[in-house]
Amino acid sequence: MKSGDALSGKKIVLGITGCISAYKSCFLIRELVKRGAEVKVVATKSALEFITPLTLATLSRNDVVVSMFPKGTDSEAKTTTWHIDLGIWADIMIIAPASVNSIAKIAHGICDNPLTTLVTALRCPLLVCPTADVDMYQARVTQENIEKLRGYGFHILDAEAGELASGLTGKGRLPETSKITDKTEQILSGYKEDLSGKRVLVTAGPTYEDIDPVRYLGNRSSGKMGFELAKAAYLRGAEVLLISGPTSERAYQEIPIIRVRSAAEMKTVVDKSVKNSDILIMAAAVADFKPSKKSENKIKKEENPESIRLEKTEDILTGLKTKAKSGETVKVGFALETENEEKNAIKKLKGKGLDLIVLNSLRDEKSGFEYDTNKIKIIDRDKTKEFPLMSKFQVANVILTEAAELIKKEA
Ligand code: CTP
Repeated sequence: MKSGDALSGKKIVLGITGCISAYKSCFLIRELVKRGAEVKVVATKSALEFITPLTLATLSRNDVVVSMFPKGTDSEAKTTTWHIDLGIWADIMIIAPASVNSIAKIAHGICDNPLTTLVTALRCPLLVCPTADVDMYQARVTQENIEKLRGYGFHILDAEAGELASGLTGKGRLPETSKITDKTEQILSGYKEDLSGKRVLVTAGPTYEDIDPVRYLGNRSSGKMGFELAKAAYLRGAEVLLISGPTSERAYQEIPIIRVRSAAEMKTVVDKSVKNSDILIMAAAVADFKPSKKSENKIKKEENPESIRLEKTEDILTGLKTKAKSGETVKVGFALETENEEKNAIKKLKGKGLDLIVLNSLRDEKSGFEYDTNKIKIIDRDKTKEFPLMSKFQVANVILTEAAELIKKEA
């Protein structure tokens, strides 16, 4: 069990229906188990055309429900009230993939197989991942049934677009495993789609300031914090724009990214985009200095340069004070400090006209650049809130909650 992981110790029922992407459920089970969750699988007969009960039982380390009236074979659940038992046992049920047929049955309360029967007995949240070939997915009846499910309070994770098993291209793919686990984590942590209809602008990564065509001044930012913020905001319903410096991090396919290199380029894009944003989160580690002059040609060793002349870059947040009128955009900055942390962070909060500043200290273990975890304090004009060491995804959600509160106050 991974302590501190939001999925650790959680009881998860995974429902699998008949769809070619059922093979991907194996990766999902592995990831959930690896993160310390207990997983029990319920599969429809059609799902078993694509994967075997033995595979599912081995990966989940539990008996698998494959029929309404279990016969008690080795990999099968044995009691006849399994649907009531599992409905009470689970913290969450995920259906991935959820076929058009199963969605239609759930939308109409039909209980003719183990999976749809269990749904009617559930006491916990349900996350449905609709998956089909493009035409079946877009069919009006499918979309109306998905809306019905949403109306019943079930969580829906939209299919992804891309190449499909049929050879066609379009929407219908099962979302990537990490997106399903991220959404599961949010639901289990009680986060709702509270940013629905809001526009969130996030900056991420370092900036590179060129010395010559092959060399640059940079910093150790991985971009991870900004990317997790963008992902968390997207899953909470926001329309997200991510502006990123050079990084190898990946966001979900639905999140538009504008890639920039230098502080000046980032400033141009932020200035243009901020007017339409409800929240701006500057998680980027923007360079404070750049070479005064970029050499057009590679500087040769023989030139033996003894120093590089530097000049300040423009501060993006400070420059916004006049652009984004107060009350329009909630502005969140980051401060990475090594000494007098809180005092310096408050100075930045006031000096840069911010609503919130997120402080992380390089003194904290496993916090800051290159780590998957972060230990932060969130400071506003009246108070400081301190949080324990968390994954950067958890940190992202905490920051978004604080920012969302400020939108509510302003509304
Ligand atoms: N920032 C910015 N424009 C810059 C430099 C930083 O908008 N040219 C933003 C960062 O994205 C961050 C906040 O300002 O959200 C604080 O960045 P930080 O580097 O901690 O502070 P600086 O103002 O650069 O001060 P110092 O480096 O001296 O601590």
